[in-house]
Amino acid sequence: MSTERYVVAITGASGSEYALRLIEILVEAGHEAYVVISAGGLVTLRHEVEPERLHQVLALATEVFDDADIGASIASGSFVFDGLAVVPCSMNSLARLNAHMADTLITRAAMVAMKERRRMVVVPREMPMATGTLEQMARLSGLGVIIAPASPGFYHRPQSMEELVEFVAAKTAACLGVRSWRLKAWKANQLCDT
Ligand SMILES: Cc1cc2nc3c(=O)[nH]c(=O)nc-3n(C[C@H](O)[C@H](O)[C@H](O)COP(=O)(O)O)c2cc1C
Repeated sequence: MSTERYVVAITGASGSEYALRLIEILVEAGHEAYVVISAGGLVTLRHEVEPERLHQVLALATEVFDDADIGASIASGSFVFDGLAVVPCSMNSLARLNAHMADTLITRAAMVAMKERRRMVVVPREMPMATGTLEQMARLSGLGVIIAPASPGFYHRPQSMEELVEFVAAKTAACLGVRSWRLKAWKANQLCDT
């Protein structure tokens, strides 16, 4: 299996643990994870995640970039990465992606993904959503961006927060083209089997 490169952009929506688990899944699958965290993403991470957990996961990354570092490798189309996930994606970042802004490393790397026609997944988290946000998501979807809302299913009867997180993180990985053995395919009779 060849090693692939994935960019994980963490922005300031709730659900930063989804990103941490996604990084683990990518690395467990033998891939490289390039991580960028927005200023808002840092704030939510500090609210939601223990510092030890954050450090432990960031240590798995091939590189962790500052969002202000627009000269970083992933800002250039010549640095080939296989996919990019904005997870979780704030409504602010969603609007900026929709506007094709490129003034931060996250928006620039996303621009690269779009112009180079690379796989890009956006995991928005907001409730409820403004009409403008829904329109922006529809537009990005039409441009080939996969919109994968952070909405875990319950049909597999999750027993813990970890299992709920796993659902969203593994689905996000699958949208990038990376399969996690933990994401069980639905079998119609699986509940009858137990
Ligand atoms: C604890 C916390 C939770 C937040 N949750 C969300 C959220 O779920 N969705 C969202 O769009 N914004 C949320 N915000 C607001 C964003 O962080 C804020 O709009 C920020 O400017 C986003 O910046 P960024 O897109 O550059 O990361 C939250 C902020 C805080 C402090």
